[in-house]
Amino acid sequence: MKAVFITGASKGIGKGIADAFLKQTDYTVFNISRSNTVVNPRLQFLQVDLSDKNALLNFNFPDHDYEKIVLINNAGTLGELKHAGAMSDTSIFSAYMVNVVAPHVLINKFIKHFNDLIKEKIIINISSGAASSVYDGWSVYCASKSAIDQMSRVIDHEQDLINASSKFKVYAIAPGVVETAMQQQLRKADEADFSRKAKFIELKDNQALYTPAEVGQRFVELIENTESIDGVISRISI
Ligand SMILES: NC(=O)c1ccc[n+]([C@@H]2O[C@H](COP(=O)([O-])OP(=O)(O)OC[C@H]3O[C@@H](n4cnc5c(N)ncnc54)[C@H](OP(=O)(O)O)[C@@H]3O)[C@@H](O)[C@H]2O)c1
Repeated sequence: MKAVFITGASKGIGKGIADAFLKQTDYTVFNISRSNTVVNPRLQFLQVDLSDKNALLNFNFPDHDYEKIVLINNAGTLGELKHAGAMSDTSIFSAYMVNVVAPHVLINKFIKHFNDLIKEKIIINISSGAASSVYDGWSVYCASKSAIDQMSRVIDHEQDLINASSKFKVYAIAPGVVETAMQQQLRKADEADFSRKAKFIELKDNQALYTPAEVGQRFVELIENTESIDGVISRISI
């Protein structure tokens, strides 16, 4: 069997990816999040609140001799859409926990746990155009996605140096604009906190958003054929 561990597979893009992997009968799918909505004998739910330091530190990947393993750090939050100075301090902590600290800790645990496996080992971090764009109200989110890109570059480089023959392949992939709860949050935001809100309403009105199912299928295609991924940092197109 092959295994894919997806954070935040209960809804949105993560659920789209889980549903697409469940169509591949050789995959066991693990949903690492606070809740689960997918019922399937090949899906296992590992309940973790990724904003909770102790829950994250106590998390362990299960033992199994998989022929291919994939970690998809997908769970993410916009956090509080507010300008710096107006945010609550605690919202900053919990958003960086989910967006940056949890992916980094999970990568560390994943590499440690599966290092001796000589089969295919893949780490996908879900990034965003926000990694290099400036949107007011998104300081935590934009900084989080920049961190995801740099984390991916450096860990991929480390793997090239120490483990070239059996390396973990590491990628940061932006999924495009996808119709999920995160987009709904943007469209409902107060314009005083996020002046570019109209752009996201327009994208929705013009039906320019991908669906989670389309994006999920695209991620399966990329993971089944990593040679088609355009470098460590890329953006999907459908
Ligand atoms: N939607 C877009 O247009 C878009 C564009 C670029 C990048 N992205 C990125 O794509 C990823 C998924 O976004 P989405 O739009 O699908 O968001 P979403 O619909 O809001 O789903 C977020 C997922 O993250 C999980 N999550 C949130 N907080 C968590 C916590 N404390 N502990 C564990 N899991 C948690 C949620 O699971 P539970 O609630 O069950 O815990 C949920 O499954 C994010 O990294 C986002 O930055 C999205």
